[in-house]
Formats: sequence, structure tokens, C-alpha cells
Amino acid sequence: MEKNQNSSNCHKKNDDYRTTESEKNSLHKSIQSVVKFEKICQIVTTMSLSRQSRKWLLLGVVILGLCYFVLHSRGGEVSGNSSSKNCPECSNSIVKNNNASGKIISSRKTINIAPDGTVYEYDRNSPIIFIGGVPRSGTTLMRAMLDAHPEVRCGEETRVVPRILQMKSKWMKSEKESMRLEEAGITGDVLDSAVSAFILEVVARHGEASPRLCNKDPFTLKSGTYLKQLFPKSKFLFMVRDGRATVHSIITRKVTITGFDLKSYKQSLTKWNAAISAMNDQCTELGSDHCLNVYYEQLVLHPRKWLTKILKFLELDWNEDVMHHEKQINKAHGISLSKVERSSDQVVKPVNIEALAKWVGIIPDDVVEDMANIAPMLEKMGYDPNGNPPNYGTPDEEVVKNTNEIKAHKDDWEKQGEIVKSNSKKKVAAG
Ligand code: A3P
Repeated sequence: MEKNQNSSNCHKKNDDYRTTESEKNSLHKSIQSVVKFEKICQIVTTMSLSRQSRKWLLLGVVILGLCYFVLHSRGGEVSGNSSSKNCPECSNSIVKNNNASGKIISSRKTINIAPDGTVYEYDRNSPIIFIGGVPRSGTTLMRAMLDAHPEVRCGEETRVVPRILQMKSKWMKSEKESMRLEEAGITGDVLDSAVSAFILEVVARHGEASPRLCNKDPFTLKSGTYLKQLFPKSKFLFMVRDGRATVHSIITRKVTITGFDLKSYKQSLTKWNAAISAMNDQCTELGSDHCLNVYYEQLVLHPRKWLTKILKFLELDWNEDVMHHEKQINKAHGISLSKVERSSDQVVKPVNIEALAKWVGIIPDDVVEDMANIAPMLEKMGYDPNGNPPNYGTPDEEVVKNTNEIKAHKDDWEKQGEIVKSNSKKKVAAG
């Protein structure tokens, strides 16, 4: 388990400028030790000793030299009572990237300290979980379920992670801009290093420290393959939902998304089709070891079965808490919600099937009739474009129980939602 990966030999680095300095220092020390070692060898070889004693002396010098190297490469240990975790292969400041190209990547480290004092270190080899999908596809529910796992922290949408990815992609697409960057010495490697450092810092430090980091900014999946290049051990959960339900949710809740015309089901379904198609391509390219399709309908109908599958994919142990995320909402060290995120007042509830078929009977007839042509991705992702609604399946007993309980105490749950929406982090911090 991540928690058991004790790595007290990690460098304490969370600042790009300081990291560069300390890398320089460590290189300097290594060069010094090589020079010293060579000098000792010269003295030894020029001494007039018997063959046997010269052999023993040389062996001793080699062992001493090795010890010297090991001790010097261990500088900057995290001291005090804190233990350092989640930093596989972090005894060197340059970590070998294990991706297919076998390229060496510089791996900046960042730390975050958990409330119990445990220090967690993260770098580009950390197995970050990225949750993506078209917004309104159950991404918040997915992240809340994972947030309930004691080893994982996702937290609120960062909003800046997809933006920097989009910016980087724009620079690369523009021939003029990428030429200018190359001419300025900002090569692909330099950019990757800078972008990954930015993402790591934001993801690691916008919430509590935990053994496993997770990020939920739905559109990051559009850059899935690039993210995997930056973080070779990352895993992606691709939230897929019936496009008709997603678009119905976007339109009725007035969720503004670039390119979506909230007045038109037809136009929005076309945009959904394009977005999910791009994400599906990314997920396919990432491969089944790195990307898993999670169907919202199946997750809410059969949460136990799907969460078992998801945790296995993420190489996490089963923990019953993931089945009851609602119990940890806004509790100390529990699940932190943003008052400005659209799903915050919905995700306070236990997993339920209230939202499965809300769209039925709302979409204009002409759009319903032409659904297969307007949104061909529906069929590709396994949804019957002519089913209104399609048969999603029969819910598990525990989900039926949750749904009935929510219906019976509608007002109480609404109040819970309102409380979450009025809780500002700013107020808490100031107060
Ligand atoms: P509706 O708006 O159709 O109700 P996202 O978080 O990706 O924006 O997705 C929002 C959708 O997730 C909402 O769809 C909402 O109902 C659903 N959702 C949130 N919490 C849920 C829960 N506890 N159980 C089932 N669905 C949930």
C-alpha cells in the first residue's frame, strides 16, 4: 500500500527556485566525491605494497567510496517526528521516467503535511488519479466516493489545471508560438517540467495531504495522454453518462460551458457528442491500464460492484467508507465541498437514482426523433438512441433504500444542500 512506502530519504523540496539550487549543490558534491575517490585510487596504485594487501586495500577503498556516495545522495532528510510517505523511488533528485520512451525526466518534489503530522512527498512518479468527463456526468459523485476512501484526497475542482493544459496545447498548436518558444530555449522538456511542477503543486497543496492524490477537473481528460506523459503512473476515470441526461442537466441547471448554447438541446447534444468523442479517443489511447470508463448509470445502480472495480483499477484496497460518502461531507478531515460548485447540494445525499431519467419527455420531439444522427456517440458508448429512456438496469437494494429515504425526507436533504452552499471557506478561514 502507498502508506507503507516509507521513504525517509526524500528531499524536502516544494519550491522551484530552491529545488534548482539544491540540485546544483548535490551535483557539485557528487563531482567532489568522484575527484576525491580518484585521488585515493592514484595514491593506492602508486604505493609499493604486496599484491595481496593491495587487493584488500583497493576493496576497502571501493567500499568506503560507495558508502560516501550513498550518504551524500541522502541529503535533506525530512527531520523531526514526521514520517515521510508516498514517495516511491525518491532517493534521487533525478528520477528515471518509466514510460515507453525511457526518457530521463527531472522530478521536482513537493510536500504536504497531514493533520497528524505525517509528511507526504509527491513527484512526477506519484500515481495521481484524474477524474474526467463531460461536466454533469457524475464527476462530483465519483470524486466524493473516492474522497471517502482514507487513502485518497481529490477535493474541489481546481479550475487552473485544465486552463494551463489548454494554454500549453494552444502554444504547441501555433507554429509561430512554438517556434518562438524553441528560439527562447523553452524546449518541450522545459515546458513539461514547468507545467508538471505547476499541476503537482496545485493538486498536492489545495487540500489535505493524503497517500494518494486525485484531481477532478472534468476537462483535463481532453489532455489525458499529455498528462500521462507528465505523470507516467497516473490513472484516469472517464465518467460517461447518457448525453441526453447530461445535456438536460446542463440546460436546466444553466451550467455555462464554452461552446454550449443553453437554449438549444440540438446544439448542446452536438457539443456533448464532440466533447465525449475527444475524451473517448484519449481514454482509448491511454489504454485499459491507465483509463477506465465509469458509466454514471451503472455506478448509481450498482455502486458496490462498480466501486470494487474502480478501486481494483486504482490499486486501492476496498474500504466500506466509499459506499457512504455522505457521512463525511464537510466533517473535519472529511470531504470538502465548494459552495460555488453546481453539484455540491446534490452530492450531500447518499448515492441514489433520482437523476437517471429526469430528461425523459423534456427534449423536443424533432431532436428525439433524430437522436442517432445528432449524437452518434450515444450508440458508440452503449446507449440506445431510440430508448426514451433506455433500460439502464435494476437498482441494487441499498440504492433503492437510499432513494426512498431521500424522497421521504426531501426537506431535510434540501436543507443539508443549502447549508453546504452557504459554507464559505473564506468565512471559515477568517473566522
Ligand atoms: P442532474 O443534474 O441530472 O441531477 P457533475 O458532478 O459531473 O456535474 O454531475 C452532476 C450530476 O451528478 C447531477 O445530475 C447529480 O444528480 C448527480 N449526482 C450528484 N450526487 C449524486 C448522488 N449522491 N447520487 C446520484 N447522483 C448524484
